[in-house]
Amino acid sequence: MQTQPGSKTMTDNARNVLARLGEAGVVPVVELDGREVALPLAKALMAGGLSVAEITFRSEAAADSIQILREELPQMLVGAGTILNVDQVEMAHRAGSQFVVTPGFNPAVVEACIELDVPILPGINNPTGVEQAMGFGLEAVKFFPAEASGGVLFLKALSGPYPSIRFLPTGGITLNNLRAYLALPNVLECGGSWVVRPALIRTSRFDEITRLADEAVALVARNN
Ligand code: 3PG
Repeated sequence: MQTQPGSKTMTDNARNVLARLGEAGVVPVVELDGREVALPLAKALMAGGLSVAEITFRSEAAADSIQILREELPQMLVGAGTILNVDQVEMAHRAGSQFVVTPGFNPAVVEACIELDVPILPGINNPTGVEQAMGFGLEAVKFFPAEASGGVLFLKALSGPYPSIRFLPTGGITLNNLRAYLALPNVLECGGSWVVRPALIRTSRFDEITRLADEAVALVARNN
């Protein structure tokens, strides 16, 4: 996936992060209203067996939350999502973000991540996007919005021309269709908010988040 600038060799850091994402199978896409819920939420996910989270920059609390999780839960893999510009890349990096996910393909964002050796999964939903990512030496991309863009059929079609590219489908994924995605050889893992719906966080229903995480982990395990 990630290359050193000017090189086509994946960095060890990028290789390790991709391997950990692949092992997890599912990455919860998390939106936090306040940093005080970051820790209880992450502990709830870990209690359900999910030790990865994408904290989206859709709230002011994102960078602080990432920093708290990196300090308090070093065993967790913590990334930044919905990164839209280079300033946010730098904020995410300063907070200790271990990977970056974007909804679309922004070359400036991709370049900044490569410079900082922060593994980046830019969002694409067409072959042009895949080729742009390949131009930067990336081997994994987010497929967003997955269900609205052709879902499993799209990914099957792309495995022909781009056999080395792995996808992180996100957008419309739930327990009902997760298995169909994970069964595809070119799927690295799936992202989604169904485990961490904002309403569950707001009402402190952390037990339910643990239950949903556990359910997702069990489905991933059945697929392996
Ligand atoms: C994302 O940011 O990746 C998506 O909004 C998550 O999509 P979902 O809410 O349909 O899971």
